[in-house]
Amino acid sequence: MSRRTGRKIVVVGAQWGDEGKGKIADIEAEQADMIVRSEGGANAGHTVVVQGRTYKLHLLPCGIVRAGKMNVFGPGGVFDPKVGREELAIAREHGSEVMLDTHASVVLPIHRAIDAGREFAAGKNAIGTTLRGIGPCYSDFWLRRGLKLGDLRSSARVREVLTDGGYWDELVALCVHLGVATRVDIEKLNLGIDPMSLDATVAWCMEHATEICDHLGDTRRLVHSMVDTGRTVLFELAQGVMIGTHLEGGKFCTSSTCTPAGISASLGIYGFDRVIGVTKAYATRVGGGPFPTELTDDLGDYIRSNGAEFGTTTGRPRRCGWLDLRALRYACKMAGVTELVVTKLDVLSGLRGLGLCEEYEGVEERATLVESVLQTAKPVLEGHRPWAKDLTSVRATSELPTTAYEYLIRIAQSIGLPITSVSVGPDREAMINERIEP
Ligand code: IMP
Repeated sequence: MSRRTGRKIVVVGAQWGDEGKGKIADIEAEQADMIVRSEGGANAGHTVVVQGRTYKLHLLPCGIVRAGKMNVFGPGGVFDPKVGREELAIAREHGSEVMLDTHASVVLPIHRAIDAGREFAAGKNAIGTTLRGIGPCYSDFWLRRGLKLGDLRSSARVREVLTDGGYWDELVALCVHLGVATRVDIEKLNLGIDPMSLDATVAWCMEHATEICDHLGDTRRLVHSMVDTGRTVLFELAQGVMIGTHLEGGKFCTSSTCTPAGISASLGIYGFDRVIGVTKAYATRVGGGPFPTELTDDLGDYIRSNGAEFGTTTGRPRRCGWLDLRALRYACKMAGVTELVVTKLDVLSGLRGLGLCEEYEGVEERATLVESVLQTAKPVLEGHRPWAKDLTSVRATSELPTTAYEYLIRIAQSIGLPITSVSVGPDREAMINERIEP
């Protein structure tokens, strides 16, 4: 029996997150039969602008704003029921379909309280998490405990899982140890319940359960059946390669895998046809951790305000810096990127000069860029001639100032991959859809 195999396309953040994956995934979603989020949780913020209306999605794939599209939240993700319900409402409004995996982990208010408690306790050594309970929920996943979405089908089951083997008591003891009740501004977390109350937590789960349970299913089976019948599946990864747990090698990372390996691990999908690495024309990082090309002066402030570099999920100002080609080369290798999309090129217009980092002093090309290496890495900065023209209405490379075109060529050559499109503004239409070969 011959079997058709569908196209498997991945959108991956090739920096420290916030590369503009939402917009690129949204554009790719048009041709896809199904869009899948497989990793992470409501720490992500994928911005999609549709006809002037901005959607800041955290959990569900960007395909929910497209009528008739099938969207999946896979078993490798951690699902906050409250946020999820808000996004299910967006899907309903747009007439799109959603399947949530029965085995996706549930983020509870107590996970968020522990996240905040740990950050508070760490003081100046805090990670700078999004406070969305991601680390504590993934910790429970790896400890082989915690609620799965399928458990929400009955309150008795929720209670049983939460109390199994002293699980709940352990979480509460941790909260007490961290001084959650006295040291953390619980009001600010907007949890809606006392996170340490078991009864309130069970009731909270059941409040969100009905709607969520209508969408539960076996997403692995669904994704495989789509691929096996020749459909196109788009995998929308979250965060960025440089802050993926397995690669970052220290503490300033998120708690999930941010490369296609995560899709393979949780969904059993391999052999991707295209892995689209999204990079900004400069670099940003939010939260703590090393950032070799960071600009802590007025230039950084200028890029931040010009590029509206404030966290989609937390509103925090993002740290800004020059494009780090050394880190980008590494990230593309680690994620098996096959093509690049450059976003926010328009933000660099009007600067007096541009910097690019090709390498770090004394760090050989083959060196692995883990946290400890990046902490002491000194970027060798090279200049690039700037451009003044506003690029937001440019739709072809022939309309680009020569220096801007050369900037793109330089990126493609340094990474050794083609750039397949360039984003010059937030709207879907603000794209230069031309291939730039290295
Ligand atoms: P967590 O994922 O909330 O535990 O945060 C851990 C680190 O990952 C922090 O530095 C966050 O700022 C960062 N992080 C998490 N999600 C994102 C994202 O979507 N974009 C950029 N940084 C993120």
